[in-house]
Amino acid sequence: MLKQAQHFDESQLPKIAQLPEAFQHYRQELGEQVYGAMGIAREDTASRERAVLRNYEFFDAPMVGIVCMHRELGDADALSVGIYLQTLMLSLTARGLGTCAQVSLAAYPEIIRSELNIPPELSILCGIAVGYTDPDFPPNHLHINRDPVEKNISFLDDLELAHRSDWNTLVRA
Ligand SMILES: Cc1cc2nc3c(=O)[nH]c(=O)nc-3n(C[C@H](O)[C@H](O)[C@H](O)COP(=O)(O)O)c2cc1C
Repeated sequence: MLKQAQHFDESQLPKIAQLPEAFQHYRQELGEQVYGAMGIAREDTASRERAVLRNYEFFDAPMVGIVCMHRELGDADALSVGIYLQTLMLSLTARGLGTCAQVSLAAYPEIIRSELNIPPELSILCGIAVGYTDPDFPPNHLHINRDPVEKNISFLDDLELAHRSDWNTLVRA
């Protein structure tokens, strides 16, 4: 996987799932924070590329998991996989381990599938690197920006609910 990622040309860029335009700023901001902490400038493409390739060495983690989902399951079931993964990450954190979810690994499903004998009915969603966090690596001390809660949740009190004429639109949204 690392070899393939190292030798990509324009036609074979790692197929990391792109975000819709409206969400791309999250990845850009995360990149700015992480690469910034590593001292890598925006225009330093060689260093950025090297940093991206670290994904395919699993950041030297001694253990990597591959998160899969049965192809016949749908969007609602993906919630269960996400909740499972979050709980796993929290449990590992509680036991003193560090984790990194790695959607970048899903860029090479054929390699992972053949190396690990993953059956065709499972789709590969992401990886998870597990190891001990390096305290000397500056990005490990970052507090990544979060949206304010109000950006994603609408709090409505009873009075407002009783008088809302657009309630149907709200529940469907
Ligand atoms: C679904 C998902 C996929 C991710 N994939 C990658 C990845 O491929 N490579 C990477 O370096 N970080 C990846 N990240 C980890 C983010 O870099 C990490 O969540 C970010 O540093 C924020 O960390 P925090 O949530 O602990 O604040 C991923 C995170 C999530 C939730």
